[in-house]
Amino acid sequence: CLVGSVMLLLNGSANRDERHFADPDRFDIHRGGAHLSFGQGLHFCLGSALARMQARVVLEEVLKRWPDWEVDYDNAAKAHTASVRGWAKLPVRLG
Ligand code: HEM
Repeated sequence: CLVGSVMLLLNGSANRDERHFADPDRFDIHRGGAHLSFGQGLHFCLGSALARMQARVVLEEVLKRWPDWEVDYDNAAKAHTASVRGWAKLPVRLG
């Protein structure tokens, strides 16, 4: 019986579901399709528009200031959480 059970949703894993996304581990900023980063349905993130706008402004400004850069993968570290399959640390070398 599952009544009263604790449920843990692995959003980070769902966002890399190869049954839903082609080449799911490749970073593709233009990737379409319903991802779960902001949740889904009734409790969909209320701040998603603000978060997206902030991310766009940050990326625009940083890339304007430092157009030449490369990721320093030797010193990068993966994040180990249930909700995020991304990076805890992702240093870049600026040109
Ligand atoms: C990249 C940034 C963000 C991510 C990845 C994110 C992610 C999420 C997710 C996954 C949920 C759904 C939680 C659930 O289903 O129980 C959520 C809900 C929510 N988020 Fe965000 N969020 C972000 C930024 C923000 C910001 C900037 C605000 C407010 C200014 C915000 C306000 C909220 C609120 C109020 C809810 C609850 C909505 C509800 O329960 O009806 N979030 N967020």
